[in-house]
Amino acid sequence: MEEMKKGLEGVVALDTKISFIDGIQGILMYRGIRIEDLVDLPYDAVSYLLINGKLPDEAELNEYSLKLKENRHINCKLVDFLKDLSLGSEELDGLRTAISCTAHFDEENNHHTVDANQNKTARLVAKFPTIVAALHRGSHGLDVISPDNDLSHGANFLYMLTGRMPTELEAEAMEKDLILSAEHELNPSTFSLRIAASTLSDMYSAVICGLCTLKGPLHGGARKGVMDMMDEIGNIENAKDYVLGKLERKEKVMGFGHRVYKTYDPRAKIYKDVARRLAIENGDTSWFDMAEEIEHILYHEFVEMRGKPIYPNVDFYSAVVYKYLDVPAELATSIFAMGRVSGWIAHCMEQYSDNRVIRPRAHTI
Ligand code: SDX
Repeated sequence: MEEMKKGLEGVVALDTKISFIDGIQGILMYRGIRIEDLVDLPYDAVSYLLINGKLPDEAELNEYSLKLKENRHINCKLVDFLKDLSLGSEELDGLRTAISCTAHFDEENNHHTVDANQNKTARLVAKFPTIVAALHRGSHGLDVISPDNDLSHGANFLYMLTGRMPTELEAEAMEKDLILSAEHELNPSTFSLRIAASTLSDMYSAVICGLCTLKGPLHGGARKGVMDMMDEIGNIENAKDYVLGKLERKEKVMGFGHRVYKTYDPRAKIYKDVARRLAIENGDTSWFDMAEEIEHILYHEFVEMRGKPIYPNVDFYSAVVYKYLDVPAELATSIFAMGRVSGWIAHCMEQYSDNRVIRPRAHTI
């Protein structure tokens, strides 16, 4: 038997055509295209690319976007049910429950044909934003806002969440966030989903496995952790003592470090630029300035002082973007899932297409 690698570090578990990461050069590609060359496209186009393996032409994009818009609405019984959920500080729990309920309303839930899976794909990608916004507003006693099909995927989410039309930059920022969150090779939540898909469980069940795994603070939950950390720090003058205190107590600083990237996460670079532009549009750069100060402190502590390649990851400056979009911290992981669902579905379909049950061994000690 092979030697055990804790956390499966460095272990190649399967082949995929969906994405490529070079952790040393800081490169991320979706279906062979650099993330930098995708991030200005509509989210719908990148979702199509991940799931279908190629960028859509104009007609294909219009057809896909229309199918998503036609599926944005959620069952009114579900809306009423969501209002009764007490969500507390992590609203991903409610999203997990809502997706489970949505499966029951989907008559194709346990159908495994190509058509059924394509229909479920559109329903899942389209409904995540509506459910996240309805959960938040319903659980806070606010009217649930119906989707506006004149708006893009990201802009529509902000409208359903806040009740106001986003600015052009806010809409752009949300689309970029969903694209940057959409896919990342065999990360914990995607691997969890592929294990479920490998047993030929249904797509909803596989996505729920992904959701449950993404919640963890060492994975998708880190974005909320960064937002909470910034609230705890309060202002830039407190940043150094706060961060050095965490290091002294051997606590992890959320939003930094990565199992694969041993250099700057290419997504973080894009998020940082968006955060800077939002800060300037907002007229108050304090959150951005605090984040940059934390980055500088940790670069000195990790890279210069300790020689550890620990840099900002996808969750650091995305948290700053959410601050400027007035997104509540308790929604951060759910919004991460809104983008990631397209990558999850691509991996689910890839697993179904060339399947072997994923079943590693363990050393008995
Ligand atoms: C995501 O895998 C993906 O692709 C995930 C993701 C995706 O798109 O799906 O990119 C999304 O999950 C990003 C990561 C979000 N998580 C966080 O920001 C939480 C904080 N980060 C750490 O928990 C950590 O960096 C991990 C979990 C991300 C990676 O950890 P590893 O590879 O298991 O490395 P490790 O924990 O063994 O750390 C190695 C050393 C340790 O010190 P020593 O024991 O050697 O003295 O580096 C230290 C760690 O203590 N370290 C940190 C740190 N990250 C690593 N110390 C303080 N703060 C940190 N953030």
